[in-house]
Amino acid sequence: MKDFESTSLRVRGGQLSLLDQTRLPHDEIWLECRSVADVIDHIRALRVRGAPQIANAAAAMLGCRAAAGDEAATLVRAAAALRDARPTAVNLMHAMDALTDTLQHAGHTAELIDQAVALIEADRACCDAIAAHGEPLIAPGDHVLTHCNTGSLATAGVGTAMGVIRRAHETGKQIRVWVDETRPLLQGGRLTAWECGKLGIPYRLIADNMAGSLMASGEVDVVIVGADRIAANGDFANKVGTYPLAVLARYHDIPFYVAAPRTTVDPACASGADIPIEQRDADEIRGAVTRDGFRRWSPADAAVHNPAFDVTPAHLVTGWILDSGAFRLDDIGQSALTAPDRGTASGG
Ligand code: MRU
Repeated sequence: MKDFESTSLRVRGGQLSLLDQTRLPHDEIWLECRSVADVIDHIRALRVRGAPQIANAAAAMLGCRAAAGDEAATLVRAAAALRDARPTAVNLMHAMDALTDTLQHAGHTAELIDQAVALIEADRACCDAIAAHGEPLIAPGDHVLTHCNTGSLATAGVGTAMGVIRRAHETGKQIRVWVDETRPLLQGGRLTAWECGKLGIPYRLIADNMAGSLMASGEVDVVIVGADRIAANGDFANKVGTYPLAVLARYHDIPFYVAAPRTTVDPACASGADIPIEQRDADEIRGAVTRDGFRRWSPADAAVHNPAFDVTPAHLVTGWILDSGAFRLDDIGQSALTAPDRGTASGG
């Protein structure tokens, strides 16, 4: 398998390594993935996370196993196991289905190796296209609010929503970013803050429940988030806490954009009601993992509700920024999300 290098995923000499995102921002530790089971474990534990990057990690592992000589039948079983590692982000399912299809039709594994590399490289290219389509939607001096982490840790390239923010920063728009800390697992506080710092993007970290008063006082000009699955009608699932942001943005008349590659669109889901929402461990809500271990602040037996994602309905979205263009609700009605590359950008 060809060598590949990105912020949180690398392949060197046929060996896949992942940057442990649960240890950031304090420790930058690369995990060598020795088996498919390792990768499944890392996906479940969110050591690798972000819709595109879990697909990339799974594809890379299959490519490495194919290059190491695993037979097609073994790889098909591995793809099925990887496919089930997390239920909401559809990029993982799309990647595993594409690779399984190749294995079943090609009859040999060489093609799978090429395709795994192509999928990861395509994700990187998608990020660049999303940034190009999204950057014109950000005005000079905008205060941009974002949620979770959608940057180079979560993709093979510059990111989705974060790629747009980064491009706006790099073109000299003098933007400022409000980073939602993103309870319960703090992807904003730990990861987006880390990425903004590395890129020199001016940011301020806020607790999620501060967004409303910031909007009310005119301190947010635009909201941009990523997605884990976009239904055919434009409803989409993203990290829990996204839906309330969309409601707040509508109330305060602030544009609300979602940015994602087309691999995040699931034509099989007619609406958001069809998107499976992952329920996670109660301890994620009862406390937090710190550098010194798990710290609980609730009663040990506190009953917990912990959906990892919520669904934002299409009518609250100002525009969908995909690698194929930027789209409005009217475009969605004409199947813009599921159509092949239209090469247009109208979503402002
Ligand atoms: O549970 P996570 O951290 O994998 O959730 C990630 C998100 O919700 C991101 O916003 C989404 O995957 C887009 S990443 C480009």
